[in-house]
Amino acid sequence: MSESCKKVYITTPIYYVNDVPHIGHAYTTIIADTLARYSRMVGYDVFFLTGTDEHGQKIEQAAKARGKSPQEYADEISARFKDLWDEFEISYDKFIRTTDEDHMKGVQKAFEVMYDNGDIYKDVYRGNYCVSCETFFTETQLVDDEFCPECGRSTTVVEEESYFFRLSKYQDKLLEWYESQPDCILPKAKRNEVINFVKNGLDDLSITRTSFDWGVKLPEKIGDPKHVMYVWLDALMNYVTALGYGTDEAKMDYWPAKIHLIGKDILRFHAIYWPAFLMSLGLELPQHIGAHGWWTRNGEKMSKSKGNVVDPKEIADAYGLENFRYFMLREVPFGQDGDFSQRALIDRINSDLGNDLGNLLNRIIGMSGKYFDFAVKSEGVKTHHAAEFEEAEAIFRQVEPYLYEVQTNRYLEELWKTLRIANKAIDTGMPWAKMKEGKEDEAMATIALVANILAKVAVLLHPFMPKTTDKIARALGFAISTESYVKLVKEGGLLGDFTIEKIPPLFPRIEEPLVATPAEKAEAVKEEKKSEAKAKQKAAKAAAPKEESGANLITIDQFFQVQLKVGTVVEAEEVPKSKKLLRLQVDLGEEKPRQIVAGIKEWYGPQDLVNTQVCVVANLKPAKLMGMISEGMILAAKDDEGLCLVRPEKPRKPGSAIG
Ligand code: MSP
Repeated sequence: MSESCKKVYITTPIYYVNDVPHIGHAYTTIIADTLARYSRMVGYDVFFLTGTDEHGQKIEQAAKARGKSPQEYADEISARFKDLWDEFEISYDKFIRTTDEDHMKGVQKAFEVMYDNGDIYKDVYRGNYCVSCETFFTETQLVDDEFCPECGRSTTVVEEESYFFRLSKYQDKLLEWYESQPDCILPKAKRNEVINFVKNGLDDLSITRTSFDWGVKLPEKIGDPKHVMYVWLDALMNYVTALGYGTDEAKMDYWPAKIHLIGKDILRFHAIYWPAFLMSLGLELPQHIGAHGWWTRNGEKMSKSKGNVVDPKEIADAYGLENFRYFMLREVPFGQDGDFSQRALIDRINSDLGNDLGNLLNRIIGMSGKYFDFAVKSEGVKTHHAAEFEEAEAIFRQVEPYLYEVQTNRYLEELWKTLRIANKAIDTGMPWAKMKEGKEDEAMATIALVANILAKVAVLLHPFMPKTTDKIARALGFAISTESYVKLVKEGGLLGDFTIEKIPPLFPRIEEPLVATPAEKAEAVKEEKKSEAKAKQKAAKAAAPKEESGANLITIDQFFQVQLKVGTVVEAEEVPKSKKLLRLQVDLGEEKPRQIVAGIKEWYGPQDLVNTQVCVVANLKPAKLMGMISEGMILAAKDDEGLCLVRPEKPRKPGSAIG
């Protein structure tokens, strides 16, 4: 970034309110926060934006499932994001919600501008529609050219009136942009993926829907009230409506964004649709779009159904927020996936923070106290340790670009190199020996060299670990600010004469994981549920009337028309491309196992089922799901907390009748 560019605009994606915050959201937000803090520290005028994405069919559905209005539901989840960011002391300047009035006005304004300049036209959208999921799918998303990737049901080709954005018109201009700004997409390797995609041709984009209601209406002037805007048009516009686009444009001078931080899954929306919209609006393009990788658990994607989602608050509470921040930004090269484990986090805390940084500070506190009553003078550093000082300075001088390229791991690695220089200087300088030899100046110079390196590291590490580094600075007799940044880092200056303050160790050693694993937690929940269910059963028994009466009763003969049998699952596998279905082979004591396709994937994995018993409705008419015959139904119970299978209490022979 050039010196003259004083305004710095940094954004996170706006998070969907159909899920509560997890480690992936925390990661993007923490990277953005670190860049914002750094930019402020060096003296730039920063605007840091985050928020929530609240429109669309999914959110409408999620609200409905909970018996809430979309607005009520969005208010609730949006507040969870905001509360977490506040608790994490995320230094955002604005928290935008796509249900904010001025945002919606801004989106309508943008629609009008694009419409007026001929980039929007009305046509018919043809797509494969799943009635059950109320969603269109492209041909490539369908399973076996016909079935819904979500629920497995057959889709139908439906035509819907829609407004289209002339994305195809911008293909060449987009390619020119990628060529002329080689670092517009970070990491740079990701740029080629986008270029290849665009080179394959861009279709115009359907940007309105009539199949649901929960969205921004088209501008009145267009006079088509049954349409609402496509969520991605609505959502992407947040980056400019937050600055007042279309309403009070006072903050538009922060535009263009320095960087939009996002996850790799939403790169195409940001690297193709967004710049094309901006070109159509006549606005400048962002300087960078930074796409990070995914956090996984044991190499697997995190998902609620697998029970492997990492709760960032739980981890931050147990290990310390700033240690967690350091870990996330140090552990994974930007753009690559990273596996979260408490072991890796503990190792980083004990080794990088405890041994390398914390111990170095302790050594300095100890020696300065013992030999000089904590009073340190920096004047001898350049005479006795010129080489080490210059080696460290060279690193401090060239470390900033790593940060703006979002290579936070490289940036931190570089800082840690200077800690090694400092540690080595103590080992070779041996202040204790120098003191014995009466060479007090040399002992003092070594201690001062280390203290000065630590001070510069504290400044440069401040955006990552604000409170911890404030403590380090206080121990070294200064405060972190733009002035100290300029003096110590920019100008390569020294602390001068100062008094060291003794502080308690910053990174106490951690031996064992501090948070129960999902399996341990699941076991505890199971136990709790068991005893709750027992208590409920007891209460229901006591309260039940002696005889049932009324309608809806069936005779015993009717009941016996349903054949219920015990079955043993002999094979189980996930149905590719389906979020819900598992394909089971269930032994019902017949000649060969029956194939049963069950919508239980959200709650059970194949490994939970093989060699276990289930209860099966055995005389159901076979049905076709995702093109596969299903020859029975598995009994399960579902309530607010999810679904659980109904199973025989003790193993029974496959095919045993239930009655
Ligand atoms: N609402 C859209 C963004 C609109 S921006 C104009 C959206 N929201 S999201 O809540 O689903 O995801 C937000 C971000 O979280 C994405 O950048 C996504 O990559 C990130 N992550 C979600 N799960 C993740 C991991 N497990 N690991 C890392 N980040 C992931 O997309």
